Amino acid sequence: MTETQALPKLREDFRMQNKSVFILGASGEIGKVLLKEILEQNLFSKVTLIGRRKLTFEEEAYKNVNQEVVDFEKLDDYASAFQGHDVGFCCLGTTRAKVGAEGFVRVDRDYVLKSAELAKTGGCKHFNLVSSKGADKSSNFLYLQVKGETEARIEELKFDRYSVFRPGALLCDRQESRPGEWLVRKFFGSLPNSWASGLSVPVVTVARAMLNNMVRPGSEQMEVLENKDIHALGKADGSLKP
Ligand SMILES: NC(=O)c1ccc[n+]([C@@H]2O[C@H](COP(=O)([O-])OP(=O)(O)OC[C@H]3O[C@@H](n4cnc5c(N)ncnc54)[C@H](OP(=O)(O)O)[C@@H]3O)[C@@H](O)[C@H]2O)c1
Repeated sequence: MTETQALPKLREDFRMQNKSVFILGASGEIGKVLLKEILEQNLFSKVTLIGRRKLTFEEEAYKNVNQEVVDFEKLDDYASAFQGHDVGFCCLGTTRAKVGAEGFVRVDRDYVLKSAELAKTGGCKHFNLVSSKGADKSSNFLYLQVKGETEARIEELKFDRYSVFRPGALLCDRQESRPGEWLVRKFFGSLPNSWASGLSVPVVTVARAMLNNMVRPGSEQMEVLENKDIHALGKADGSLKP
């Protein structure tokens, strides 16, 4: 059976297990599309967002979404928010331009790592991390070094299953002004498709890749999905709405 044929059945089997999920960073570009896909595909019996602020949703589909508002500087005080979720998705992150180097490390490494620790203690079996193309704990570039170090330190927690996603530049319509990202998008827009897709990826493809990966049985405790794997997996089921 091909992946395209298998996915609807895998999804159905997954649904039958009545699992619960938490999402960190559900207000972000990847996080919000991931949440929308999770609800549309009706994959979990309980969905919880963990974030620094309460989000408002108009649509009926979001009415059963639970929200835990936490102070990331005092996460130990909020351990209960991380308890009892089978699956966790971390789409948290900031930029050096926004909060400086120290602030970036605090969010992208410290908050992420502490959240992963609390999730593991709270019983999470499958942890999914959005990292980045080129993540490398030995890199001389702060961004790639922090991403690589965070990946490696979460691996040490030994989740039953740990999936790391390394997307290239995200293609999305961000409200917030990020001139660098805008330029990158323009640049990719001018390249032949095959080149651009090696270096960038639409957020919906990332979100679908995360979910398509989750519903299939994991063969390894840790798996790393590079940008090309994300493209392949995210587009594996043509039956989903465009
Ligand atoms: N942009 C790219 O091209 C690119 C490429 C590869 C990988 N990535 C990585 O992919 C991940 C997701 O990226 P994205 O563009 O979807 O992220 P995003 O839109 O910037 O959203 C980031 C999320 O993190 C939360 N967050 C940021 N600072 C926080 C803080 N100090 N305390 C608590 N929460 C905080 C935000 O919450 P609020 O809404 O409350 O701010 C939001 O939910 C990040 O780790 C990023 O590094 C990005």
